[in-house]
Formats: sequence, C-alpha cells, structure tokens
Amino acid sequence: MKLLVLNGPNINMLGIREPGIYGTQTFADLLSLIEDTAKEYCIHIEQYQSNHEGDLVDKIQAAYGKFNGIVINPAAYTHTSVAILDALKAVGIPAVEVHISNVDVRESFRQISYAGLYCEKTIKGQGLDGYRQAIAYLVEKYA
Ligand code: DQA
Repeated sequence: MKLLVLNGPNINMLGIREPGIYGTQTFADLLSLIEDTAKEYCIHIEQYQSNHEGDLVDKIQAAYGKFNGIVINPAAYTHTSVAILDALKAVGIPAVEVHISNVDVRESFRQISYAGLYCEKTIKGQGLDGYRQAIAYLVEKYA
C-alpha cells in the first residue's frame, strides 16, 4: 500500500507557531511519527509539505494511479480552497482530512472545510496523533 501525506501552509512551523494551539512538537517530530507509522504497518508513505496552493494541487494530481490513499491537512487552505477539493475529486483517491487543533471550537471562518466535502473521514483535535489515526483508518479499510 502507498499513502501520500500532504501538509499545507505553516505546518512546517510546528513547534514554533502558536504552541498553545498546536503544541510544542516540531515538524520534524511529525515526519518521524509518520515514518514510524509507515514502518509499523509495513507500507510506503511519501510526505510532502508546501506553503503554496498550486503545489498541493500538482501533488494531488500526480498521485493519480500511484497512491492508494491520501492523508491531508490543507491547513489554512482547508477553509478557502475549491482547487484542492476539485483536485481530490479529480483523482478519486480515498482521503482522510486531519487537523491538529479542534477547529470546531475556533473562529467561525474555520468551520467550513472544502477538502472535507470530499474526504471520507475527518480527524480533528487529536494533535499529531491524528495523522497516525488517519493512516490506521486507510490501512484498515484499503490495504
Ligand atoms: C489546522 C487548522 C487550520 O484552521 C489552520 O489554518 C492550520 C492548521 C490544524 O491542523 O489544526 O494551519 O489545519
């Protein structure tokens, strides 16, 4: 099984950005957690982070025919990007949305998720463990 883990803008600033909301674990910690989870399930995982919407769209398009699942935290693009939603719909790959924070109890502009309209599951407010849960879900359902 091959999964693509995509992270949007400012996720690379984990550990520095708003620790009261996102915690003190770093982006490097997140990458290690995902690598460890890949080893645990004996699957291949490619990770990609970008601060640019079009790069994320390109990566989703390039996943067509190559990956069995996508874990995506579109970050701020969650709440704005019809382009990312359309890219997910275009490739038709099973996807799970992750948010480190519990967006449900935050500002009203975070209550809409475009990517979430496509994703079959959303995990929020679980910290970095949300990524492990998302990978576990895709492995259990599709491997
Ligand atoms: C986030 C929540 C978004 O609202 C925010 O813009 C982010 C991170 C999260 O993981 O909790 O950058 O996706």
